[in-house]
Amino acid sequence: MQKKRIVGIALLLGALFGGMSSCTPQPEKELTIKEVVDGLVTRIYETYTPEQMDTLSHEFVLSMLNDRERHALATRYWVFDVNVPVRVSLMRHIDQAVVPFWLQESGFVKTDFVVKNENYTYEVWQKDFPMGEVNLGINGFDKHRPVYFVSIQPQSPDDSVVIKPLIPAQQHFEIMDRGAFTYHDWDGLKLTEVPVELQGGVLLTTIRGRAREAHLVNAFRDTPFPSSEQADQVVLTLSGDPSSTRDVQWRTNVKFDEGHLQFWKEGSNDTLEKNSSVFLMEDRLLRNDRYVHRHTVQLRDLEPGSKYYYRVGNRFSGWSKTYSFQTLPRHTDHFSFIWFGDTHNSPIFGEMAQKTLERHPDIHFYQIAGDLVSTGLHRDDWDKLFGYTGDVFAQKTLLTIPGNHDNQDGLGAWMYKEMFSYPENGPEGIPSEMTYAYEYGNALFLMIDATQPIEAQTAWIEKQLSNTKATWKFAMFHFPPYNFVEPYPEIINAWGPLFDQYHVDMVMSGHMHYYLRTKPIYGDQVVGDFAKGTVYTMSISIGGKQKEWPKEDYAVIRYPGGPLYQHITIDRNTLHYKCYDPEGNIKDELSITK
Ligand SMILES: [Fe+2]
Ligand SMILES: [Fe+2]
Repeated sequence: MQKKRIVGIALLLGALFGGMSSCTPQPEKELTIKEVVDGLVTRIYETYTPEQMDTLSHEFVLSMLNDRERHALATRYWVFDVNVPVRVSLMRHIDQAVVPFWLQESGFVKTDFVVKNENYTYEVWQKDFPMGEVNLGINGFDKHRPVYFVSIQPQSPDDSVVIKPLIPAQQHFEIMDRGAFTYHDWDGLKLTEVPVELQGGVLLTTIRGRAREAHLVNAFRDTPFPSSEQADQVVLTLSGDPSSTRDVQWRTNVKFDEGHLQFWKEGSNDTLEKNSSVFLMEDRLLRNDRYVHRHTVQLRDLEPGSKYYYRVGNRFSGWSKTYSFQTLPRHTDHFSFIWFGDTHNSPIFGEMAQKTLERHPDIHFYQIAGDLVSTGLHRDDWDKLFGYTGDVFAQKTLLTIPGNHDNQDGLGAWMYKEMFSYPENGPEGIPSEMTYAYEYGNALFLMIDATQPIEAQTAWIEKQLSNTKATWKFAMFHFPPYNFVEPYPEIINAWGPLFDQYHVDMVMSGHMHYYLRTKPIYGDQVVGDFAKGTVYTMSISIGGKQKEWPKEDYAVIRYPGGPLYQHITIDRNTLHYKCYDPEGNIKDELSITK
């Protein structure tokens, strides 16, 4: 009863103040950087031709801002609270052509200090702030990726600073000193030179993706494959049991808010229909196709070993071509699949992918080992990937893992995540559907997002391997443990012993843009026997990039470039592995029988 009365009073107070606000002017809500730049982009689209958009200068963008917007860009990029008076040092890359517009006018003064990391040199700007809120502005309207970072020192040596992050809400702190990193998306880049006056301060780390928050100069892009009301980019994926489920995804423009999938079993007249879940995907700098709808339908309770036909679209704009898929019969131990190394939204890959389907129409599915595209948050890259591959992935299920390029400067791989519906059975603490496992016939596939922390996934890998009864075990992840450019000892140390103990037959990777198949490896040593060791492979779906070609003692066969693809057949206790070029010439071959 007492509780109810309190609620009543609160409601009354709310009504009173609510009533008062209509006659008392309220301070205007602070705009976010995103709100300002979203609005600016919309005005640019309404006002200027595509040619004019390519000529926007820093000064011109500034002149488009009203006072409230300008204030937001000067103060709402980086905000934190300090408990004592502080000196803020701001490290600005010397090669950034235009100094952020707000820096000098807000009272920052350039010093003679210089800070360096392994790649860049930074000039140091400083300003004293009283206790309370510290407000900093955007990095600029260009996309200058070595964005500024800051360090904080108390003005009085007797004080110790407590920093409460506000924007961004999550903030990592380091000590400002040699050896500290500054960018989370490149944590190998360490500070090499820090003036003694700045040493020991609190370093606020950042990500290079923040260069994109107000990117407007030389920023606008076009997709060669804009969306329409006709469904396209139709892809079969898998997020459940391959005998009884399939997922279908596709794209349309935003004219209609709904999408439908019709499907029927071969020989049946019974057409079933499902509504899609619709996701509005925005790439605000894509001037000929800013928004699209991505549709997903999950089909469940299908009959094992059956052929289904399907088409997607809606009753207003018509239907796609009719495609088909085959569910896996129960207890299968015979199937084949194809996997690709880095594809990088290349037309070379697209042409090869289409040839593989003509040459191997019986394969069950495709896999790609990361770096599907080159810039993961540029939707035009995804449009090229699907545009160049035609409707290959509408006909065969596609299972992928992300590479470093599918992510973008620390902003995450959210477009990748929206493109593909995969099993949500990965390790806790890792974004779902990025690392996952699936069993197909008598084989287990561990699909691992190696761009996520390695150690955080080790226990999950062990659990999958110790729980399976599969005859064949595969692991696919982007970074190749064995290669001559930059081997991954942390992967060899963390996951290698599990691949040894539970005998993973083959590891499939990409990233280094050359082809490699190793001899069987066990305990980080070459062994003579496939029954004992794991074969590590790496491939590439475009040309190579390595200029040097040093020897690798563990290698059986290598090629400096692609495009190449790998066809694997599982026939009970025998595995046949073949690597082909696009013309169908066999470039590498291997059989293992257990
Ligand atoms: Fe790559
Ligand atoms: Fe890569």
